[in-house]
Amino acid sequence: MTAFRTDAACAAELDRADELAGFRARFHIPRHGGQEEIYLCGNSLGLQPRDTARYVQEELEDWQRLAVRAHFDGRRPWMPYHELFTERTARLVGALPLEVVNMNSLTVNLHLMMTSFYRPSPKRHKIVIERGAFPSDRYAVDSQLRLHGLDPDKSLIELRPSAGRAYIEESEIEALLTAEGGSIALLMLPGVQYYSGQAFDMARLVRAGHKAGCIVAFDLAHAAGNLPLKLHDWDVDFAVWCNYKYMNAGPGAVAGWFVHEHHAQDFERPRLAGWWGHDKASRFRMGPEFVPMAGAEGWQLSNPPVLGLAPLLASLELYDEAGMDRLRKKSLQLTGYLEFLLKERLPEQVEILTPSDPGRRGCQLYLRLHAGAHAARQVFEQLEAAGVTGDWREPDVIRVAPVPLYNSFTDVYRFVEILAGLVAP
Ligand SMILES: Cc1ncc(COP(=O)(O)O)c(C=O)c1O
Repeated sequence: MTAFRTDAACAAELDRADELAGFRARFHIPRHGGQEEIYLCGNSLGLQPRDTARYVQEELEDWQRLAVRAHFDGRRPWMPYHELFTERTARLVGALPLEVVNMNSLTVNLHLMMTSFYRPSPKRHKIVIERGAFPSDRYAVDSQLRLHGLDPDKSLIELRPSAGRAYIEESEIEALLTAEGGSIALLMLPGVQYYSGQAFDMARLVRAGHKAGCIVAFDLAHAAGNLPLKLHDWDVDFAVWCNYKYMNAGPGAVAGWFVHEHHAQDFERPRLAGWWGHDKASRFRMGPEFVPMAGAEGWQLSNPPVLGLAPLLASLELYDEAGMDRLRKKSLQLTGYLEFLLKERLPEQVEILTPSDPGRRGCQLYLRLHAGAHAARQVFEQLEAAGVTGDWREPDVIRVAPVPLYNSFTDVYRFVEILAGLVAP
């Protein structure tokens, strides 16, 4: 393995040694001023795989040629279309096929899941999330509490790091569960926190949550396609994620959903029902009684949006080919290289707010520019003008995520080179 150095030749050496380097050519890389952009924003919107247009086009053609008959006679029949994704999605998140489905969008799925799995009682009514959770999650949780007639001031716990610490430690969550677990119905945390980039030890949190009798769930928006996951083995109750970030399935893509096998036959649990969750064998008898399918599919509401799902196929195929373990290996190197260059070259100007332990983060680094809020914003705009796409968070933070499927070590080198040109004395 090449040891990191600060010279440009090192980036080229790392790229030459990268066994996944060929995947970059399978994506459309946006261009800026005649050359490829330095796109470090896959944590927000992943790039488009080159196969995506073909997969969408083929469904459009089947619609033109066959219209309604494409439900059965299309090259990928629409009737069981969502099943094309099942095995691949299961591999991606470490699940059994029974446990996963792609449908709706993330916040919708969160509500559907909470409808089934957040069943407060007078004794056990609290929901735990992290302080500074993604706003949509907080709104969803808050509104679920109100739906049950509960007061978020009394039933919502927003965990924050203890004084002097930058991150919430798993041990603090365990302590909370020991102290108050009997009143907590649902522990819902991110796999990777969207703002700080902190990755949680999910297996450990599930163990602690279950010991206290809670349902344990994760928002994996920033973890799916970023970290190897073992949702089944970890015994996660449910998880939701979007497919437009690391999963590269396009803006507002159809989202992912996991519900553990333990709950697959739990038909007593209330759920919001729709015909696509009904037993496949008898769905088209169009009877009045809802007979849910076992597993994740039993929570489906509508027939799947084929044109919306098609891009996900292109992306899942790439994940299967590259393999999550190889991607993680490269990601550790790529983000490690970014951290190395920033620390070597800009120790005074850039503070890295994401955990420095590679085991506690994914691709993304969250950088504070020590240039004053106004100047920091200016630097961000200058980066954009120079062909770097990252993502800005008020008042002075830039998030950058080198993604192992399509980013190169040269991307990382060029980014730091441009940044240094703007902020180094
Ligand atoms: C952590 C997290 N949760 C929830 C959402 C909301 O997703 P959606 O708009 O797909 O419901 C996002 C979107 O970026 C997110 O990053």
